[in-house]
Amino acid sequence: MSEVAENHALGTKSDLAGVSDSPITDPASVVKDTKTSGALKKSSRYRTRSLSASSTDSYSSSSSSQEDDVSPREKVQKNSKGSSDFCVRNINQFEFGRREIEIAEQEMPGIMALRRRASDDKPLRNAKIVGCTHINAQTAVLIETLAALGASVRWAACNIYSTQNEVAAALAESGFPVFAWRGETEEDFWWCIDKCVNVENWQPNMILDDGGDATHLMLKKYPAMFKMIKGIVEESVTGVHRLYQLSKAGKLTVPAMNVNDSVTKTKFDNLYSCRESILDSLKRSTDIMFGGKQVVICGYGEVGKGCSQALKGLGCIVYITEIDPICALQASMDGFRVVKLNEVIRTVDVVITATGNKNVVTREHMDKMKNGCIVCNMGHSNTEIDVNSLRTPDLTWEKVRSQVDHVIWPDGKRIILLAEGRLVNLSCSSLPSFVVSITSATQALALIELFNAPPGRYKSDVYLLPKKMDEYVASLHLPTFDAHLTELSDEQAKYMGLNKAGPFKPNYYRY
Ligand SMILES: NC(=O)c1ccc[n+]([C@@H]2O[C@H](COP(=O)([O-])OP(=O)(O)OC[C@H]3O[C@@H](n4cnc5c(N)ncnc54)[C@H](O)[C@@H]3O)[C@@H](O)[C@H]2O)c1
Repeated sequence: MSEVAENHALGTKSDLAGVSDSPITDPASVVKDTKTSGALKKSSRYRTRSLSASSTDSYSSSSSSQEDDVSPREKVQKNSKGSSDFCVRNINQFEFGRREIEIAEQEMPGIMALRRRASDDKPLRNAKIVGCTHINAQTAVLIETLAALGASVRWAACNIYSTQNEVAAALAESGFPVFAWRGETEEDFWWCIDKCVNVENWQPNMILDDGGDATHLMLKKYPAMFKMIKGIVEESVTGVHRLYQLSKAGKLTVPAMNVNDSVTKTKFDNLYSCRESILDSLKRSTDIMFGGKQVVICGYGEVGKGCSQALKGLGCIVYITEIDPICALQASMDGFRVVKLNEVIRTVDVVITATGNKNVVTREHMDKMKNGCIVCNMGHSNTEIDVNSLRTPDLTWEKVRSQVDHVIWPDGKRIILLAEGRLVNLSCSSLPSFVVSITSATQALALIELFNAPPGRYKSDVYLLPKKMDEYVASLHLPTFDAHLTELSDEQAKYMGLNKAGPFKPNYYRY
């Protein structure tokens, strides 16, 4: 197995959606004849799968279950301009999707400002982008921005569960070749990406990836085409990890931008977004009253810090577990008790993992939890809580709500497991559009930078977004808050050794 394939075996289609439990197979082996109708039917596994509690839920009833049983690949659909260069669940749902996109635009000031500022210059003119990301109202705003900046795009979903069908329909109706629907099979998944890559008279020259799957497919199945790519922009932890591995193995033949580790993404997505969404996730799924509850949070990185701040703010008694003395000291100085999980496991009301590690909460821990303890994960995949260890004959699983399972011990004790251990905020809440605006603006700028860079600026390696662009992304969002930046005087700029236009911090600055 190649290194990349090995990663896929370990990895997930997307750490963002945290639905890593579907097997990942080699794209070349599954992208074949489309008429394997049995495989195209959605299996019951997909139908019973609980889906993201995103805004789609309010109108998801608009697609009938009968219709859901027919694979979009077996339907003949055309948009109102007569194009059939797309594959979505139901093109007729486009009006719902358009409304969703318009709502998202209101809360995505940065990416909309970029659209306005750069649409005359068209910095992405002649860019042909294969996109593989979640397809929802927020990413639709990104896709339409890239088109406004001059790019021609083809798009597939990076996750088989997360597509907002109505939004995919709206994009297809507007003429975007979108190949995605909620509840794709594994084979559909690779077929959709293939439909974006392997097109007559259209040779992609950029990849925007979330999880590395478009990159993986092109590298494995179309190596000659891959060599023509000018740049890859990757958003996820998993995808970035794969890129670094490819680079290390000397197999990365094009420059790539690691957007995941840009400052604006890490701080806003991990810290501020999680600070808000942990409360919403717990409230929506369990109706819990927070005041006075004892909560243990495993991991005091950006995500752990956000969660603990929010829960403390609502009156919870928060404990932290950490392996790193620096983060443990930070937690202590922030007023949290740093403990080993075993010290508090019998008494806490809520256990939250946010480490990015595996088996942080084991069956042994869960055996000790008290009746009614809520267990959930905010980390990138479903490995943090050993959920498989709960699938034993002595325990009974009772689904009480979408994304909420009671796991019942023989003596009647039950724990409340959220989202089967996948990312609870993406399963039970929604990502604030504002945060996605920051990430999207970062992605768009990374594409612009790689596409327009003079030859030689970027070699076949993985790069971070230049600091100045990170600062630009932040500045695009400041008008929302009517925030007024102080300008350096000439004297001050000289004294500090800075350019008055930035960058204002060295690369090693930690914010
Ligand atoms: N839910 C979301 O929306 C969301 C958003 C961003 C990132 N993430 C994911 O959340 C995870 C954490 O992200 P982060 O930015 O906080 O990372 P981070 O590296 O800053 O923090 C993780 C912390 O966990 C600690 N840790 C590791 N193993 C541990 C263990 N066994 N017990 C206790 N502590 C342990 C580490 O020392 C570190 O301080 C990652 O997997 C990331 O991909 C989730």
